[in-house]
Amino acid sequence: MTEKKPLKQFLMIPGPTPIPVRILAAMNREMIGHRGPVFSRILGEVLDGLKWCYQTKNDVMIFPCSGTGVMEAAVVNTLSAGDKVIVCNTGNFGERFIKILKAYGVVVDEVKAPALGKTINIAELETKLAADKNKEIKAVFMQQNETSTTVLNDVKKIAEVVRKHGALIIVDAISGLLTSPLPVDEWGLDVVLSGSQKAFMVPPGIAAISMSERAWKACETSKLPKYYWDCKQQKKFADKGQTFTTPPESIIFGMHESIKMLKEEGLENIFERHALVTKAVRAGVRAAGCQLLADDACASHAVTAIIPPDGIDGETVRSEMRKFGVEVAPGQGELKGKIFRIGHLGYVDKLELVATIGALELLFTQLGAKGIEIGRGPKAMLEMFS
Ligand SMILES: Cc1ncc(COP(=O)(O)O)c(C=O)c1O
Repeated sequence: MTEKKPLKQFLMIPGPTPIPVRILAAMNREMIGHRGPVFSRILGEVLDGLKWCYQTKNDVMIFPCSGTGVMEAAVVNTLSAGDKVIVCNTGNFGERFIKILKAYGVVVDEVKAPALGKTINIAELETKLAADKNKEIKAVFMQQNETSTTVLNDVKKIAEVVRKHGALIIVDAISGLLTSPLPVDEWGLDVVLSGSQKAFMVPPGIAAISMSERAWKACETSKLPKYYWDCKQQKKFADKGQTFTTPPESIIFGMHESIKMLKEEGLENIFERHALVTKAVRAGVRAAGCQLLADDACASHAVTAIIPPDGIDGETVRSEMRKFGVEVAPGQGELKGKIFRIGHLGYVDKLELVATIGALELLFTQLGAKGIEIGRGPKAMLEMFS
């Protein structure tokens, strides 16, 4: 007998996330002139909506790219070769900032988390900044949510420390935005990045970057080469209701609908939804015999890194979960095989997560893990929802 394919896909990765039918329907329309009035109106509403999501009055621009594009834009629009910066490095995406910065000849120092799954020691950052008497450090880069280790960094505290010194604070909120609060103006964040494929529930294709007045000032003196990633160019076009280059219109139509949905739900409810499923997933996988990489105190609200029961490889979990139609994410870099990750941001609902943890228990039992009691994980989650 041939093995039956599962009827449904459960996309439990930290982006791209599942797409609501409303967004799919909004994207399913004809192309329109991107230098005309209808597109201008839609783009204007998307850019205003992004400001609402960021809780900012700063300029927010979009680029047709994945998240890495705006990571590069953040670098080339604020710095010059030879400038000194610090990267708060909590994992793979901190490493990515370091690689981009070095590729442009920026001098990088780092404050590294003591282990994967931990946040940085903020006192170490404070000491480095206090020692910089001549104010040579131009910027501090960080992830709000480090997707690879599933750590939520304390942006508010780090920003306070950086503000005291005077360097720019540049935050990659690509997977974190909307999953936990990030009031950009209140916390004084200079550059903040996000991507359509995460909590916006839209396919990959556009990424956003906000720039504070201080960031624009840095842009005036920044000498790094830029053409496609030139924020000034993008802003000039945004002010005319256009994008610099041909925009991915379908994705922008999707973002337009997404912002309507997000506003209907309200920011507080969106944060609460993500906080609740985070708690439930953590309770569920613990009850299903797993351990967690990140502590509760710094747990990401977008994705959870899970250490499988003894003797089970994370990559086996990933490939075998496909039998149930469930796609989970792998461990990245050093964590490959040691963990797997469950994404719970964007259009992921509570009961899909219950089903996912149920499937995990079935799989662990099939793989011979000891002490697994089928139903314990889902029960722990359902109790949390009741
Ligand atoms: C925190 C973070 N930064 C940057 C990126 C890179 O984004 P992309 O893969 O869209 O280029 C990701 C992608 O998952 C991410 O989670």
